Amino acid sequence: MTREPMMPFANLNVIDHPLIRHKVRLLRAASTPKKLFCELVEEIAMLMAYEVTRGLEEEEAEVETPLERTVGRRVVGEAIVVVPILRAGLGMVEGVLRLIPTARVGHVGMSRDEESLEPVEYYFKVPHARDVRHFIVLDPMLATGGSAIATLAGLKRRGARQISFMCLVAAPEGVRELETAHPDVPIFAAALDRELNEDGYIVPGLGDAGDRLFGTI
Ligand code: PRP
Ligand code: URA
Repeated sequence: MTREPMMPFANLNVIDHPLIRHKVRLLRAASTPKKLFCELVEEIAMLMAYEVTRGLEEEEAEVETPLERTVGRRVVGEAIVVVPILRAGLGMVEGVLRLIPTARVGHVGMSRDEESLEPVEYYFKVPHARDVRHFIVLDPMLATGGSAIATLAGLKRRGARQISFMCLVAAPEGVRELETAHPDVPIFAAALDRELNEDGYIVPGLGDAGDRLFGTI
């Protein structure tokens, strides 16, 4: 497989960890069966969530140890909302919730038109931005960037201020579009691939993430 190209993207963080690289290779394999594919998506999302949440706001909180009272730190999980882009983003939710179990979940339905590759929104249900410190948008694939750009725009129209975008495989074309449209949003990816092909698929990629997760091939 071709090594990931080194490209200067201001907002892109490719999470650089041997376990993630190992799991991404397995995810790419056409021979990986559905059950393993689902497990890998969830595990990679969990490993990535550790990095994505590095800058989360914390607050001081007292704690009573068996010996004395002391002060520790706590993350306000309820102020974090993970937003999977349907369908494929659903595969990443449980992995993130394993690290932040009290995070809330919003859902955005976007379907890419097969001809035009334009995103079509069919569902949008997220907690009110007033009570949210950080939205983490999940989608395994950042291809043309259309689905991500439309989702982030929808969140901002509803008042979202701090948003991160988390994907497994990104195409340079999509990263460029997303950075241009939403320069304030950090992008986290497990891998940056070579390019989009003429059908809008990421290559080398992993195929259609939704179909592989849900067995709709
Ligand atoms: C896939 C993928 C992304 C989108 C990426 O979804 O899960 O949401 O395509 O492509 P883009 O960056 O060019 O917008 P798809 O529309 O196939 O829907 P699905 O998740 O229901 O399979
Ligand atoms: N959506 C996918 O699921 N895979 C791609 O390669 C591109 C868009």
